[in-house]
Amino acid sequence: MAYPDPDSRSAALGARARAVFPGGGTRSLTQLAPYPIYAREAEGCRVTDVDGVERIDFINNYTVQLFGHSHPAIVEAVVSQAERFMSLTLATESEIELAEQICGRAPSLQRIRFTNTGTEAVMHAIKGARACTGRPKIAKCEGVYHGAYDYAEASLDPDPQNWGTDRPRPVGYAKGTPAGLLQDAVIIPFNDVAQSREILDRHADSLAAVLVDPVPSRCGGLPMSPAYIEMLHDFRRSSGALIIDDEVVCFRLHEGGAQTLYGLEPDLTTLGKVIGGGMPIGAVAGTEEAMSVYDSSAGKAACPQSGTFTANPLSMAAGVASMRMFTKDAIDRLNALGETARERLREAFRIAGVEGQITGEGSLILFHMSDEPLADYRAVYRAGTEGRARRLEALFRSLLNHGVITSFTGMACLSTPMEEAEIDHLADAVLAGLRSLEREAA
Ligand SMILES: Cc1ncc(COP(=O)(O)O)c(C=O)c1O
Repeated sequence: MAYPDPDSRSAALGARARAVFPGGGTRSLTQLAPYPIYAREAEGCRVTDVDGVERIDFINNYTVQLFGHSHPAIVEAVVSQAERFMSLTLATESEIELAEQICGRAPSLQRIRFTNTGTEAVMHAIKGARACTGRPKIAKCEGVYHGAYDYAEASLDPDPQNWGTDRPRPVGYAKGTPAGLLQDAVIIPFNDVAQSREILDRHADSLAAVLVDPVPSRCGGLPMSPAYIEMLHDFRRSSGALIIDDEVVCFRLHEGGAQTLYGLEPDLTTLGKVIGGGMPIGAVAGTEEAMSVYDSSAGKAACPQSGTFTANPLSMAAGVASMRMFTKDAIDRLNALGETARERLREAFRIAGVEGQITGEGSLILFHMSDEPLADYRAVYRAGTEGRARRLEALFRSLLNHGVITSFTGMACLSTPMEEAEIDHLADAVLAGLRSLEREAA
């Protein structure tokens, strides 16, 4: 059955959804016009929708499902935990075990506190940095996604009308973002050492932290340069501001996280996605000194952090099972498969004769419908203009009808149940999609 089909069960569910959700959906990433595709079941790297159509899952809930769907070890851990208890107000051994699985994977990961999502982790890291330094401002790279906390959303999607001419300026994401909030946001251009340093130095006395993602997808999926990392380390030394390393996505690149891969030495690291094995999770980890702001053993912490579902037992159990499998061998194999996939996809673009490029690191893959160099958010923004974003979405829709799920933003990622056969399928589907784009354009 091809998508869309007005007689499908997904179309019928979409009609029901429109009566209860604004815009017909409760998560923007699953909303698709004319109706979302509804899942029935998933196993390994394959998902079957409610109309019985099976597709290979190349988005894995936006990088969460590193070990595929319903991995037996994770299912077993969740079921046996659910049979004993689901949520209560006592500490559990599994929270210690998951912490032990994560701490020590990189020198900075000395202590950890769990949260329910990556958004919450970033929020607590920002508040923690403020408590550490007594300063209000947060610097972040223009266009980079760090979840839904207001400060982290500053300048998430600026455009040439509002992003400022010579240097980035803070722009609100949601309509109604208070101007006062934006006064505490400092925006720097990703991987531009000289301009970032100049901007950071101007705010040095009032900056609590610089929040970075070492491989931000919205800056082209290219890694932070060694010179940029050196600049961040040097700025920390001179200013006393902390470095917050957001590894909610890119932790999957190395068994010691992206910081190990690229030599970044943060004070605080935010985690999520893969560390929960498919259950909701987030975490702030960091040096013993920085993490001491959350210590409430002697009364109110400098930065209180808690919540009804913090370290919820089901997430802890799934996370332990997931992190036990998060080994060098597993990650090395998946990263090598990612390299193969990128090569095969570049070949598909060459054969189809379509303008575009493939970027990404390890098991993360990004599609762009432009050959222009992608250095930062502004370059990626320009690469999406002149109908290219529309072509990217058309490719995504074509892939849906060739048995492949990616994201309409041009992102894909791999999971461990995949082999070369799945990569072949992806490359064939992309070639077919590019050819149909060409036919439509002719
Ligand atoms: C880099 C990064 N940080 C933070 C988040 C927020 O995580 P969550 O969706 O679990 O709130 C995301 C989510 O995709 C992310 O990609």
